[in-house]
Amino acid sequence: MQLTPMAPKCGVEVSGVKLAQCSDAEMQEIKQAIYEYGVAVFRDQEFTPEDHITFGRRWGGIDVNNYFPLQDDYNEIAVVKKEPDQQTNIGGAWHTDHSYDQIPAMGSVLVARHLPPKGGDTMWAHMGAAYDALSDELKAAVEGLEAFHTADHVYKADGLYAQTDMAKSLRGQDLKTGAIHPVVIRHPHTGRKLLYVNSAFTIHFVGQTRAESMPLLQQLFDAALTGDNQCRLEWKPGTVAIWDNRTTWHNAMNDYHGHYREMHRITLSGEALAA
Ligand code: SIN
Repeated sequence: MQLTPMAPKCGVEVSGVKLAQCSDAEMQEIKQAIYEYGVAVFRDQEFTPEDHITFGRRWGGIDVNNYFPLQDDYNEIAVVKKEPDQQTNIGGAWHTDHSYDQIPAMGSVLVARHLPPKGGDTMWAHMGAAYDALSDELKAAVEGLEAFHTADHVYKADGLYAQTDMAKSLRGQDLKTGAIHPVVIRHPHTGRKLLYVNSAFTIHFVGQTRAESMPLLQQLFDAALTGDNQCRLEWKPGTVAIWDNRTTWHNAMNDYHGHYREMHRITLSGEALAA
């Protein structure tokens, strides 16, 4: 297996392995690469929906997403799609998935099924590099802080997505979510310090109102995108990306209006997070 970094501080392209047939030793190597680089990209994969599900179960279990439409015959696979006449895409702003769960999903396995002729790239930003780049003053300011995360404002019946042309395809509008996590977590496997707030789902610091929290939160959201902690993936048929939600934020580019894009996503089960 060969690892080629995609950018100085985020992402790795992995070649010389077939995900659908990988050995246990290769699976361990893949996991380690994803924990460290945040996202790993695999090209030219033959990866059927059955392979996708088998891989997710082998990794350690699948968390079915409560909001996205599910694949008809394979209910563990969420369909992330945009029709030619839609304006809004799923995941088209920086975020990390499932931080609103007390035990957030570890990450996702995203498979390109139908791509627009141009555009529709995905970007990731490394939150270990983001933490390292914080000033000593900011590091001291967030030491010991916890934050509250929820998805209700995004998915509820009158939430952000409800006001878009994505509304009709979503589920779970009655759900209530809420979780508290340390602002700086340690990666459960590498021990690296990671900045764990995101502008989509992090609402306020514990013990502070939204208004009190926002100045520091905004500083952290800005600092999380330092410029040299990001990588960008141009999808091709047969591309699979696997990322770690604790280590990264991601952002799906919405620059292919008038074209169809369909991706299949399995969300991998995670573990409780700690400082
Ligand atoms: C997402 O999981 O947020 C969507 C990613 C993508 O469609 O590229």
